[in-house]
Amino acid sequence: MMKDIKALLEKSAIPIKDDIQKFSKYFDESLSSDVKLINTVIKYISRQKGKQLRPRLALLSARMCGEANELTYRASALIEMIHTATLIHDDVVDSADTRRGWPSVKRVWKNKIAILVGDYMFSKALTNMVHLKDFDALKVLSETAERLSQGEILQIEKAIKKDITEDIYFKMVSDKTASLFAASCEVGAITVTKDEKLRSALRSFGEKLGIAFQIKDDLFDIIGNVTQVGKPLGFDVKKNMLTLPLIHLFSSLSSFEQRKLKRMIKKYARKSDLDKIREVIISEGGIEYTEQKLNEITEQAKTELNIFPSSEYKSSLLEILDFNIQRNH
Ligand code: IPE
Ligand code: IPE
Ligand code: MG
Ligand code: MG
Repeated sequence: MMKDIKALLEKSAIPIKDDIQKFSKYFDESLSSDVKLINTVIKYISRQKGKQLRPRLALLSARMCGEANELTYRASALIEMIHTATLIHDDVVDSADTRRGWPSVKRVWKNKIAILVGDYMFSKALTNMVHLKDFDALKVLSETAERLSQGEILQIEKAIKKDITEDIYFKMVSDKTASLFAASCEVGAITVTKDEKLRSALRSFGEKLGIAFQIKDDLFDIIGNVTQVGKPLGFDVKKNMLTLPLIHLFSSLSSFEQRKLKRMIKKYARKSDLDKIREVIISEGGIEYTEQKLNEITEQAKTELNIFPSSEYKSSLLEILDFNIQRNH
């Protein structure tokens, strides 16, 4: 089972094998620094590569519109830098001790270094952005950087107030996760075509895939397997980060029961409480509801690609959508 899922991701990469290598070269080369500590931390984080979904989306999107080129590789690399920087910072924000199955940067070097190395990565991404010499790409990427931090802050604001609704949830997810997926696809396209229709279709595809991706991540938080996922689970619930299964549960409760559940979540400290919350979410149909949303948005993402003729690249994008539904990490 697990092997099949990994195989699906590998299969989607076959048509862009060479492109991935070129992207990796840019990524590794542009991150080196004269400061030894920076290199040590970056070497550490780059050793566990992650799924590299965003650069792959950029490469595939470029290939959907023409020939990938040096700009495409540079753009893919800088997108992965923004993503990695976000993860390093996110683990500080979430006090998470593991990432990609290893101790997080925050855990090994503590908050100060994690914040500063994250900033270093962002700055390197910025330098690369300017080197693209493309105003459209610059606009998309800088707006995305703004939305990424806005989404993370909105999440904290709502966690404190605990009054999140499904609409706010989708806005938050769209900002903190989907914006970078959308930008990856759009910028990939921008590096090869001026055609607005192609750019915008790929952008919408990325946005929807990104939402689906975060919904899946929310499911892990409740029903995932720690060893497979490689990062702490039950965390969002514990930190009052309301996720889709929980929002659904809240909407089915009376205000008295809602207050009770809020107290219960707050009190979460002992593992047994998390198990209880999990039980209620499951028995109230929170998982089915979330899976249904996941499937809906996945279908919508598919239709965004209708304007493109069949190709191995299109098949790969569809395989990534499918991978997201099935993935366990
Ligand atoms: C994790 O992203 C952050 C979320 C948006 C949920 P990925 O799952 O793509 O992270 P890596 O790069 O593969 O580790
Ligand atoms: C991931 O957010 C970071 C961003 C998308 C900005 P989460 O906190 O939900 O993701 P994980 O679970 O730590 O990867
Ligand atoms: Mg986190
Ligand atoms: Mg977070």
